[in-house]
Amino acid sequence: MATLTIVGLGPVGLTTGVAFAAQGHRVLGVEIDADRREQVARGKPPFYEKGVERALKTALRQKHLTVVETIDEALGPSGFVFLAVGTPPRPDGTMEDAFLREAAKSLASAWQDGKRRIVVVKSTVLPGTTDRVVRPILEGARLPFRLAMNPEFLREGHALEDALRPDRIVVGADDAATARSVKALYRSAKGPALLTDLKTAEAVKYATNSFLAVKVAFADELANLCQAFGVSYDEVHRGLGLDPRINPRFLVPGVGFGGSCFPKDVRAIVAGARQRGASAPILEAVLAQNEVQYMRAIEMLEEELGDLRGRRIALLGLAFKGDTDDIRETRAVPIARTLLSKGALVVGYDPLAAAAFSKVVPEVKILGSVKEALTGADGTILQADW
Ligand SMILES: NC(=O)c1ccc[n+]([C@@H]2O[C@H](COP(=O)([O-])OP(=O)(O)OC[C@H]3O[C@@H](n4cnc5c(N)ncnc54)[C@H](O)[C@@H]3O)[C@@H](O)[C@H]2O)c1
Repeated sequence: MATLTIVGLGPVGLTTGVAFAAQGHRVLGVEIDADRREQVARGKPPFYEKGVERALKTALRQKHLTVVETIDEALGPSGFVFLAVGTPPRPDGTMEDAFLREAAKSLASAWQDGKRRIVVVKSTVLPGTTDRVVRPILEGARLPFRLAMNPEFLREGHALEDALRPDRIVVGADDAATARSVKALYRSAKGPALLTDLKTAEAVKYATNSFLAVKVAFADELANLCQAFGVSYDEVHRGLGLDPRINPRFLVPGVGFGGSCFPKDVRAIVAGARQRGASAPILEAVLAQNEVQYMRAIEMLEEELGDLRGRRIALLGLAFKGDTDDIRETRAVPIARTLLSKGALVVGYDPLAAAAFSKVVPEVKILGSVKEALTGADGTILQADW
């Protein structure tokens, strides 16, 4: 059993924290945002994620998880410090490392007891970031640390299950013993583990998200082509999956990808490549295609209905995907705005994300059920499941 500190209780930090707590570790969670911290301390996750509320309440009751305001209160017996702060995109698409830098600085000033600790970067960061941002801060403070990088592969909607029983673990570290210590925290992991260096671990996360984004964009393009040729994508998809070299999962077409990870991570790797004089034309094309794919849904409505002015359109699924209330980069926003600009009356349904969506596009009338949304609708866009 280990004691570990988690800095940042967003979807990643909190889910990882409750999963470690459920496995018997003692977790000290640090959250800088007062509202979020108080909510979590009361057993209310600030986002919807299946099973997390229950696991959080259990962890708090059993005192396996404690929520505190500053890192000073969260070090004590802790042997591991996970940095799970955000790495959002800057306006030019590059990765913002300011939260990571600030978290590392707070850690360095709080770490006064001379205890040896492993500092684990959990955030998604471009290759080289852990060495460039975190290491100099800890070295400058002459701390007895070892560094590790352990990317998170959880899928929103299945995050707790993924954190409890990850299907693979990637740990990059300063040395093999450090990597093994981090891996050993995942007591119920069944899948394979890659123990490697820091930069490779950082890169694996971008490689994974980039590849999945390529698959989605390819499926979207292929579905557009199938329509143009008058063949069924579903049948083609079935045929594709017969080839043992092609995994048919994630080759599901739609209105493009959204969410807090794929768009941000693909933009960051493209921008990072450009800064280094490299190019990433495939990923650039993926981003460009993803920007316009949602228009296919609107064009299809127009092909059926003609002018959309005065037409009632039901937009079903408002989050970026099912089983979440996360509307970051959801395609439902540009779809709704385009329909409204064409004079359509848009009604929406989503059991989890409606409130968040309404704040962004208040002109969409939210209804309480699929049936209500479909009643009297001239057309429907199934944007996401729920
Ligand atoms: N959301 C996902 O599904 C997902 C999946 C895999 C990886 N990731 C990556 O994991 C990282 C975290 O993602 P997230 O969605 O949880 O981010 P988030 O921004 O929603 O949450 C981060 C939390 O850290 C807190 N924080 C920031 N600085 C702090 C500090 N100095 N001390 C204490 N708390 C601090 C913030 O207030 C916030 O609550 C990102 O790099 C993201 O790209 C996210």
